[in-house]
Amino acid sequence: MRNEAWITVNCSINGAPFRFTASPATPLAELLRGQGLLSVKQGCNVGECGACTVLVDGVAIDSCLYLAAWVEGKAIRTVEGESIGGQLSAVQHAYTRSGAVQCGFCTPGLIMATTALLAKPHTQPFTVLEIRQGLAGNLCRCTGYQMIVETVQACDRPQE
Ligand code: FES
Ligand code: FES
Repeated sequence: MRNEAWITVNCSINGAPFRFTASPATPLAELLRGQGLLSVKQGCNVGECGACTVLVDGVAIDSCLYLAAWVEGKAIRTVEGESIGGQLSAVQHAYTRSGAVQCGFCTPGLIMATTALLAKPHTQPFTVLEIRQGLAGNLCRCTGYQMIVETVQACDRPQE
């Protein structure tokens, strides 16, 4: 067996500093699941389904295709870090109140993709087309997407 040079990486996961040593070929999804962050689903493992979506420096990425070696100095966020002090984030809360969660396999990835979408600068609420395009990398086999779109719209309304 070939001897691989392992690498040591410093990053943060859900706000806490994290240092790890791994093979350069380790996918980020595998690393995160190995840390008990089981919201990171491994669906297709080829960048098709979005179930493994996490944020790296605020950008939604498919962690099955993203190497753990690339997170040096970066901030990783998963669904586990979105609720603070037992309080769900606004996006999590909206998903749980709507019919946008059925089997739930796609939900963590969709919540992270929605969080990244809503953080993009925009002066008017996103249109249905923009929401559908923004979440196009996240597949859901259960809901038919309409309730997901409505959930994102509910989060995107100006707060009074
Ligand atoms: S598991 Fe990563 S995109 Fe499907
Ligand atoms: S709720 Fe089942 S795949 Fe989306």
